[in-house]
Amino acid sequence: MQNQNNFSSVETNPLNSLDEWEDDVLERYPEPEVKAKSKEEYRNYETPGRDTVKEFYRLNHTYQTYDFVKEKKNNFLQFNKKEMPVWDAFNFLNQLVDDSDPDTDLDQFQHLLQTSEAIRQDGHPDWMVLTGLMHDMGKVLCLFGEPQWAVVGDTFPVGCAYSDKIVYPEFFQNNPDYNNPAYNTKYGVYEKNCGLKNVHISWGHDEYIYQMMKDYIPEEGLYMLRYHSFYAWHREGEYDYLLDDHDKEMLKWVKLFNPYDLYSKCPEPPDINKLRPYYEDLIKKYLPATLKF
Ligand SMILES: [Fe+2]
Ligand SMILES: [Fe+2]
Repeated sequence: MQNQNNFSSVETNPLNSLDEWEDDVLERYPEPEVKAKSKEEYRNYETPGRDTVKEFYRLNHTYQTYDFVKEKKNNFLQFNKKEMPVWDAFNFLNQLVDDSDPDTDLDQFQHLLQTSEAIRQDGHPDWMVLTGLMHDMGKVLCLFGEPQWAVVGDTFPVGCAYSDKIVYPEFFQNNPDYNNPAYNTKYGVYEKNCGLKNVHISWGHDEYIYQMMKDYIPEEGLYMLRYHSFYAWHREGEYDYLLDDHDKEMLKWVKLFNPYDLYSKCPEPPDINKLRPYYEDLIKKYLPATLKF
């Protein structure tokens, strides 16, 4: 598919696989019980994805400007690219194959099902199961030729100063907004405690799926979709001064969701045919027959 971004293929796809970003997140935020062990292991071997992940963040932090985010929203939030039944959309998402080892890596749909199944097994409400099922559907942006760093990666507010708790903060010095007095102060273009709904967040699969689902899923689930990669907020507690009371209330739901996303990966692939009837009914309960991309 045509990439209209004028980035070279090296700049468009710095990662061998989108999973390299998630593997890196997992190293930064390991599951509490395995923390000590994995920290130890981490020191003892060379992580193959390290350099590509670093380059990925260099590109992400350099090019995700305030104007870039607004331009992407203007383009993709028209949802005029494709329309298809929900179940077909999972197959569409699965066209996202990469160079990583096909024997050990789960495909995108398997990750969605493992997330939703882990939520279901813990007895959470069905809308949260659906949220797990849909949360990474926005990664189809890659299939429209979008650069990986405009699809995945930790997200952060644009139009105001960057938190130094964001991974690789030094790369923000390459971002034109870094030296722009309109964007580089604590509040930037925003008002104190204006609420995240008024804040532009770096563009990627979170905002895209949130906008796709916003009429169909309860508010708590929408926060999970919209901010699941905003680690500087939900893991580091940054940007308190941009939050309103509603954001503070919703944070617990974003935190509740995150472990299902990060720690539900297991090598055993889910039995899609067995699960399909349950999920067909769930989709029918909440979503329209077709999704617009
Ligand atoms: Fe995600
Ligand atoms: Fe995910």
